[in-house]
Amino acid sequence: MQFFLDTADLGDIRWAARAGLIDGVTTNPTLVAKVAGDADPRDMLREICAVVDGPVSAEVVGVRTEDMYAEGRELAKVADNIVVKIPMIEDGVVAVRQLAAEGIRVNVTLCFSAAQCLIAAKAGAAYVSPFIGRLDDVGHEGMDVIREARVIFDNYEIETQILAASIRHPRHVTDAAMIGADVATMPTDVLKKLLLHPLTDRGLDQFLNDWAKVATRAKGNA
Ligand code: G3P
Repeated sequence: MQFFLDTADLGDIRWAARAGLIDGVTTNPTLVAKVAGDADPRDMLREICAVVDGPVSAEVVGVRTEDMYAEGRELAKVADNIVVKIPMIEDGVVAVRQLAAEGIRVNVTLCFSAAQCLIAAKAGAAYVSPFIGRLDDVGHEGMDVIREARVIFDNYEIETQILAASIRHPRHVTDAAMIGADVATMPTDVLKKLLLHPLTDRGLDQFLNDWAKVATRAKGNA
């Protein structure tokens, strides 16, 4: 499974890329707005793309086919590793088809059902992004969308990658991996939590304390 970082925060992206923890990045207008300040979003994207050795999703903000298509083409020029993010709406599906026909990779976002994932895949999306956490938030079982999409894509040998998005905690990542999502995109805090286990810390403390005793004894015997 590939791990993407779901942020536009360059500091976080640099940390995760240096640690070799991520295979790509996803952004959206909310995430860019959080950190943009006065910066030009295109410049921010350019910097992110230079830091990340992998796909970087950048979202259009138009909602009509012609706007999404034009924006998508412009975004694709920012860097070779840009993946254009298009919302799962009827006009978006047409834009996906047009962009994909030109060889531009597209991530269809705001997917909340397996049927939407299938439509996006049929349009030529490279990635579909079911939003797990937001479904959980309204009392649905978000992971069911990943489960159903996996079965459907396998049934028809669809190559579109299932990108589990709106991940809220490490259990989401584990469950998505067990079901066979191709990618999980997660906020920085979830990625950090994946690294941690209290028993690891406790075990290491014990090893180091015991070793210190050996070292002290050895010094006393010298
Ligand atoms: O990037 C899309 C998605 O991951 C957003 O997640 O936390 O805003 O529901 P969230």
